[in-house]
Amino acid sequence: MKLTIIGAGNVGATTAHIAALTGVARQIVLVDIVEGIPQGKALDIYESLPIMGRDCRVIGTNAYAETANSDIVVITAGVPRKPGMSRDDLLTTNAGIVKTCAEQSFAHSPNAFYIVVSNPLDVMTYLTLKVTGLPRTRVVGMAGILDTARFRTFIATELGVSVEDVSAFVLGGHGDSMVPLVRYTTVAGVPITQFLSPERIEALIQRTRDGGAEIVAYLKTGSAYYAPAAAVVQMIDAVVYDRKRILPCAVALEGEYGLSNVVCGVPVKLGRAGVEEILELELSEEERNALHRSAADVRRTIERLEELLHQKTAA
Ligand code: NAI
Ligand code: 2OP
Repeated sequence: MKLTIIGAGNVGATTAHIAALTGVARQIVLVDIVEGIPQGKALDIYESLPIMGRDCRVIGTNAYAETANSDIVVITAGVPRKPGMSRDDLLTTNAGIVKTCAEQSFAHSPNAFYIVVSNPLDVMTYLTLKVTGLPRTRVVGMAGILDTARFRTFIATELGVSVEDVSAFVLGGHGDSMVPLVRYTTVAGVPITQFLSPERIEALIQRTRDGGAEIVAYLKTGSAYYAPAAAVVQMIDAVVYDRKRILPCAVALEGEYGLSNVVCGVPVKLGRAGVEEILELELSEEERNALHRSAADVRRTIERLEELLHQKTAA
């Protein structure tokens, strides 16, 4: 299993580290535009493996030739947001970066499964689909697992129970209008509404929506990366070991949930073939409206992306 990670910054390097430690790949190639950074970080991770008892070749490079024939490509290249910025504020800069990365990696690994991380997430996943021309089963965005992990963390902390016993689903776009599904949130199979008041649930939902910004406010110069990297590795693990995991991921919708021409977070079955199924949960009218509002936010940013691409072509 050959894994390429594009962008050797916080998310990319941490993903490489966790992937090497968990043994999901036999070879990891870390790519970045900055000379020396991917080489130095890859060598450091590689040298940690005798201590950790893992055999995995980890290399860093600035050249895509070394990524050839990867099984999985993860795109993390781009700028993270700073305090006061929304993920959508990154559109102009990251669209150019992600377009180049998707084109170059696809030229060398046309059969890979692509996981997009760069923000604005749903729109960058749409861009990668468009640039590669791959089917929607092979290009997926990571966000729902992270947002759901944050929600699960806050619930487990509030109730003083193991995170393992908290199940939840956060759907929709990876933005302020994301949709935590309270009706499908349980503690050991028991609905969360039996443990927490509506006010406390609403407070935890709001903290989840602000989860990315909360970390940006602390870090000031960048955004979260440990939890995002763990989420990416969970997706890689599901594909590599054909686990058929049901995980919330950003995929292109073609009629599911009454939505089309948009990328949005929904539960999918992830296995060796990539997205093997899109699960359509039964939603109440209120939940469905919230999902549609979130998708409409993503669609507006996709329209801005299309304008940008059009301007570049016309120039
Ligand atoms: P970072 O700034 O630490 O790393 C980004 C890396 O991309 C840098 O090393 C930079 O040199 C590299 N890069 C820039 N242009 C490139 C190009 N053309 N080719 C190859 N590499 C290039 O940022 P971080 O924290 O790793 O975040 C990366 C992206 O992921 C950001 O857009 C961030 O918003 C997003 N993100 C998304 C999450 C999600 O849930 N989907 C979670 C966390 C981050
Ligand atoms: C987050 O939610 C940066 O989008 C990223 O932390």
